[in-house]
Amino acid sequence: MIGLPLDDATFKKRKFSIVAAISFIVFLFIILFSTNLFEYFKIAITAIPKNDSKVCPVSEIIAPKSFYKDNSTVVSILNDANYKEKSIKRVSGAIQIDTQIFDNQPSVDKSPETWKKFAKFHSYLQNTFPLVYENLNVETVNTFGLVYTWKGSNKDLKPILLAAHQDTVPIQKDTLNKWTYPPLEGHYDGKFIYGRGAADCKNVLIAILETLQLLLSQNYKPERTIIAAFGFDEESSGIQGASHIANHLESKWGKDSFYAVVDEGPGLTTDTMTDTIIATPGTGEKGYIDILVELETPGGHSSIPPDHTSIGIISELGYLIEKDPYSPVLTPRNPIFNYFQCLAVHDPKDKIPSFFKKIIMRSGYDKFANAKLIEKISQNKFSKYLIRTSQALDIISGGEKANALPENTKLLVNHRIAIESNIEFVKQQFTARVIEVAKRHNIKVKSFGKSVYTPEDYKHGSGNGGGGEFTITATHEGLEAAPLTPTNDTVWQYLSGVTRHVYEDLVFTNLTYPIVSSPAIMTGNTDTRYYWNLTRNIFRYSPFYVDSFIGGMGIHSVDEKLNFDGHLQLHAWFYEYLQAIDTVKADN
Ligand SMILES: *[C@@H]1O[C@H](CO)[C@@H](O)[C@H](O)[C@H]1NC(C)=O
Ligand SMILES: *[C@@H]1O[C@H](CO)[C@@H](O)[C@H](O)[C@H]1NC(C)=O
Ligand SMILES: *[C@@H]1O[C@H](CO)[C@@H](O)[C@H](O)[C@H]1NC(C)=O
Ligand SMILES: *[C@@H]1O[C@H](CO)[C@@H](O)[C@H](O)[C@H]1NC(C)=O
Ligand SMILES: *[C@@H]1O[C@H](CO)[C@@H](O)[C@H](O)[C@H]1NC(C)=O
Ligand SMILES: [Zn+2]
Repeated sequence: MIGLPLDDATFKKRKFSIVAAISFIVFLFIILFSTNLFEYFKIAITAIPKNDSKVCPVSEIIAPKSFYKDNSTVVSILNDANYKEKSIKRVSGAIQIDTQIFDNQPSVDKSPETWKKFAKFHSYLQNTFPLVYENLNVETVNTFGLVYTWKGSNKDLKPILLAAHQDTVPIQKDTLNKWTYPPLEGHYDGKFIYGRGAADCKNVLIAILETLQLLLSQNYKPERTIIAAFGFDEESSGIQGASHIANHLESKWGKDSFYAVVDEGPGLTTDTMTDTIIATPGTGEKGYIDILVELETPGGHSSIPPDHTSIGIISELGYLIEKDPYSPVLTPRNPIFNYFQCLAVHDPKDKIPSFFKKIIMRSGYDKFANAKLIEKISQNKFSKYLIRTSQALDIISGGEKANALPENTKLLVNHRIAIESNIEFVKQQFTARVIEVAKRHNIKVKSFGKSVYTPEDYKHGSGNGGGGEFTITATHEGLEAAPLTPTNDTVWQYLSGVTRHVYEDLVFTNLTYPIVSSPAIMTGNTDTRYYWNLTRNIFRYSPFYVDSFIGGMGIHSVDEKLNFDGHLQLHAWFYEYLQAIDTVKADN
């Protein structure tokens, strides 16, 4: 080979350094593209805005005029021992009236007897709040739903709707001995009031009526109409109560006719990441659907079974469903996204590591940062399901006799649908899983009324367990994720501004930072599912302070209880809020 004069020493050296430089660049590219260094680098150079007015605005403090004239009433709601004692009696009395409801109760039309206990609750309310009953228009809807209307003087102002429910979940008999105080006694131990409904949500219902009663006693004359509405079967879907109330209100007032709806929901707590008090009105709600799959297979004697009975095949389906959970998704549409952004820009004690803040700031447009944030949220079993569709295998049945093959086996799966997803998607996913199992066992599939799969060599009852049909149905029409409540308008500013006023001026008077209101979502559904047509401004919000939302109040469980100071805070909030929004300035 004829070569170039390679033995030139300087050339050799230069060549070596070129090769070294190229190798280094190649090496760098390999590192950058085979690892996430580049992604980390982008995060590291991101700026974190402080007190950002666009990312998570904080409202000005908003107090009603009456507060500046004479603050004695709201101060005594919160601090007067005498008033507190009377309020304890009112809440305790409400707990003492049993309003437990159970699943699948017959309708009011079919069986009024079943619901009679609510009549007793109504007389209690009438005796306890005489001014409300004398001065307001009180209607019953579907016999036991309650709607109170306090007509305002200005027809141009849309009415405000305050909602709560009269019913409670049942008390499990076998847990009775675990309660510190009997669940229907309404016992106050000097700090907490105990009992079924103490926190979910007779407290809210009583706080609303106490507020109306108090305003009436002061001869208050609202400009904006105030409506209070109490369903009586929220804990079993609201079909008898809130659904009828919604129709009633829509036919009387029309679509989009309300200023806002404030129904039960989260309130204020100390966020564990920033160690600051934060308010979290629910501005969204996940969707819901129960899907039932039934498998019909040929019967026969269990002495000559096929390799897989319908029970075995349904179990395989269940296994497959659980092995393949829904992927998490977090977009700027999700209030939980806003929640993290609020934490990142309002962290007065600088508790959140700055690298994590940067991840949060980028998570709306940077895939890598988004994945990191999702990873973090998914580590906590409570927050995990705020960003994904949940699926729970809740009911299974099949088989009748020890010596007969099961011909009909059923599985019901409950889904809470992510904000970013929908019912159709869940139906498709579910059907795909069923088809996967059906293919292995030579079974037909009918999904929501349509035949979607027939094996090529389908022969009824042939082969090893072959034959049979899956039928997939929904046990009810399902509920899409709720429309999101706007948080960039005046209605939101009033909600959060009054919250700042009550908590910063009156409750926690030595705070060194403003109380931020951040959007949040509920994983469960409330009566508000029926109120979508009445307004875009639906707040699932009970603004009282609790140390911890989770576990602390025994909601739906043993020792349901409420820190009574929290009740008074809620009452004070309603009192200030109703007066603050009683002006055209509070409108969008
Ligand atoms: C209530 O009003 C009194 C008298 O005007 C005033 O001294 C007090 O600071 C006010 N309280 C609050 C919490 O603003
Ligand atoms: C709030 O944001 C929505 C969506 O970006 C926009 O359409 C609407 O005009 C905004 N409302 C106000 C009052 O700024
Ligand atoms: C603020 O006041 C509360 C009681 O109202 C007290 O527990 C807390 O320690 C105070 N915080 C500061 C920073 O002074
Ligand atoms: C941000 O808010 C904190 C707490 O309210 C305040 O102390 C600080 O001055 C604010 N910073 C800016 C730049 O506005
Ligand atoms: C809302 O209005 C739509 C259209 O009129 C109607 O079909 C629907 O049933 C209403 N929703 C509720 C929850 O009342
Ligand atoms: Zn409730």
